Amino acid sequence: MTETNQQLRLAAFPKGVPQDNDFEVTIEAVPNLGDGDVLVRNHYASIDPSTRTSWVDTGSFHQAVKLGMLVNAGTGGEVIASNNPAFSVGDMVMGGPGLQDYSVTDGKTLQKIDIDLAPLTSWMGGLGITGLTAYFGLLDIGDPKPGETVVVTGAAGAVGMIVGQIARIKGARAVGIAGSDEKCKFLTDELGFDGAVNYKDDLYRGLKETTPDRIDIVFDNIGGPMLDTIMRRLAMRSRVIISGATSQYNEPEIYGPKNYLSLASFRARMEGFIIFDYADQYQKAREEMAGWAKEGKLIFKETLVDGTVGDFPAVMRQLYAGENIGKMLLRLPGAPR
Ligand SMILES: NC(=O)c1ccc[n+]([C@@H]2O[C@H](COP(=O)([O-])OP(=O)(O)OC[C@H]3O[C@@H](n4cnc5c(N)ncnc54)[C@H](OP(=O)(O)O)[C@@H]3O)[C@@H](O)[C@H]2O)c1
Repeated sequence: MTETNQQLRLAAFPKGVPQDNDFEVTIEAVPNLGDGDVLVRNHYASIDPSTRTSWVDTGSFHQAVKLGMLVNAGTGGEVIASNNPAFSVGDMVMGGPGLQDYSVTDGKTLQKIDIDLAPLTSWMGGLGITGLTAYFGLLDIGDPKPGETVVVTGAAGAVGMIVGQIARIKGARAVGIAGSDEKCKFLTDELGFDGAVNYKDDLYRGLKETTPDRIDIVFDNIGGPMLDTIMRRLAMRSRVIISGATSQYNEPEIYGPKNYLSLASFRARMEGFIIFDYADQYQKAREEMAGWAKEGKLIFKETLVDGTVGDFPAVMRQLYAGENIGKMLLRLPGAPR
């Protein structure tokens, strides 16, 4: 194999928003396959705000991502050679050791995907971890009832856009909070959200207008002071779901909720979750979501940015600047156009 393999490695623990010089591009030969090995040409890298949280120097030997390691982005691509009976050339797969053009593995971390059900880009978004996060966070923790009001932050992003749509499928009202009028219009006009508020305007006033019966479920992806404002509109027995806190991932100190006593006033509950706890139920959830997508009730959307593995930090910055609608993916040179 004469191809070269571009890889992205962590070179420094970023301070604030990740910069190009926090990373290093290395170039190696694509290794030959041993017995049982699978060679994948990666087509996409997943851009997730939370990846940033693993690039922190804990000083521990057990640190998950150490300097010099491959950047821990999710990847998806195509099997181009296989010595493993479980994989054939042409199979589309997700997973692998990190961000690089090619990966050679024993296949244990690869998941074969069914492209008859949905394209690879949807598997990395709506049917991937972000879609599953929306599904289980909302349905298992929020348990929305018909007529209830669900408010989701980061609403035009990968997780948020699925949350609002599933809320509507369950008969609840969906109100999204996002960072531009264009995103708000997308939520109401294209995804059918009942309301949307641009948090760069007057967030509390926008919430008062769009949640006349107050808020039964908050699905929070953003955190920070925005959550304080939303919690002023809680309804009795409401549920506040902590999915993540994108606004805090580049901050040196995390801002926690200031008005948590509203949980007492409104007999409300705040609960966080980690999607990996639901791994044994992914398949069933994916089938249900793919069914909704086929019926036209659930729309998947991705923002694809073309580039090489070295462009990953720049695309990460675009995500933090809110330049994505739906799931943000870096499309690598080998991907079909
Ligand atoms: N609990 C779990 O197991 C789990 C699993 C996966 C993901 N998550 C969490 O889900 C959340 C959403 O992830 P995602 O992949 O769907 O990301 P995303 O929403 O697609 O992208 C991030 C969005 O966050 C907004 N944003 C960025 N910086 C912000 C800031 N400082 N203040 C306000 N908004 C900001 C931007 O939208 P605007 O233009 O609207 O500002 C941006 O488009 C993350 O917090 C992630 O950690 C949790």
